[in-house]
Amino acid sequence: MTAHATVRGDVAVLVPAAGMGVRLGPGGPKALRLLGGEPLLVHAVRRLALAPSVGCIVVAAPADAVADVVALLASVAPVTVVAGGATRQASVAAALAAVPADFEIVLVHDAARALTPPELVESVAAAVRGGHGAVIPVLPVVDTIKRVSDSGSVVETVDRSVLRAVQTPQGFRRDVLVKAHEAAVDEHTDDAGMAERIGIPVHTVPGAEAALKITRPFDLAVAELLL
Ligand code: CTP
Ligand code: MG
Repeated sequence: MTAHATVRGDVAVLVPAAGMGVRLGPGGPKALRLLGGEPLLVHAVRRLALAPSVGCIVVAAPADAVADVVALLASVAPVTVVAGGATRQASVAAALAAVPADFEIVLVHDAARALTPPELVESVAAAVRGGHGAVIPVLPVVDTIKRVSDSGSVVETVDRSVLRAVQTPQGFRRDVLVKAHEAAVDEHTDDAGMAERIGIPVHTVPGAEAALKITRPFDLAVAELLL
């Protein structure tokens, strides 16, 4: 299946949304859990569609929920929905395969970062358009970070000034993302990790606090407050 280029911009966004949300506790796939009365995926897609650069959105839904997700998003934005895979990486690959040939810039954005502002989408897209093959939004690490042994003793304190917490959307020249996925042998938790593995320089732009990933019940409570 190939997505239709229905919106305005030159950027395709892949939205992996097929995860089970195990860390959020019982209650079904995370992307379909409610935040302020609406599924996380609806919040995420609505904000993506508000970014002027976005011309195509491909959602990877839980395999048994594709029809439900099509119905859910029908009134939110024009999207294509594919069945996701057993891992995030497989879900991204499935969505990537559905992007029309004319999109040279592809972003990957977790449905779990439901409150990501459209401005962050624009800034990542602009950095790719400006010539960077791979771009990630990052925030400084605020906690003191220590390396700890299996037995729980501190091994060392890590210099946090050189560390960054990484968010999505992550942006790529399409050929870079395709090559990174083709070359991936092991599982990566993000797409830039795959690009790094094949030697692609990864550029950083400032992230956004509101792009927090909803992983545990506490994050959902924080997101409710932000909303
Ligand atoms: N994801 C996906 N396909 C998978 C696993 C994850 O599309 N097989 C998506 C999730 O839906 C989420 C994003 O990747 O939008 C980031 O994953 P994560 O936050 O780990 O979500 P879950 O895998 O759902 O959560 P958990 O790991 O707690 O089960
Ligand atoms: Mg997961």
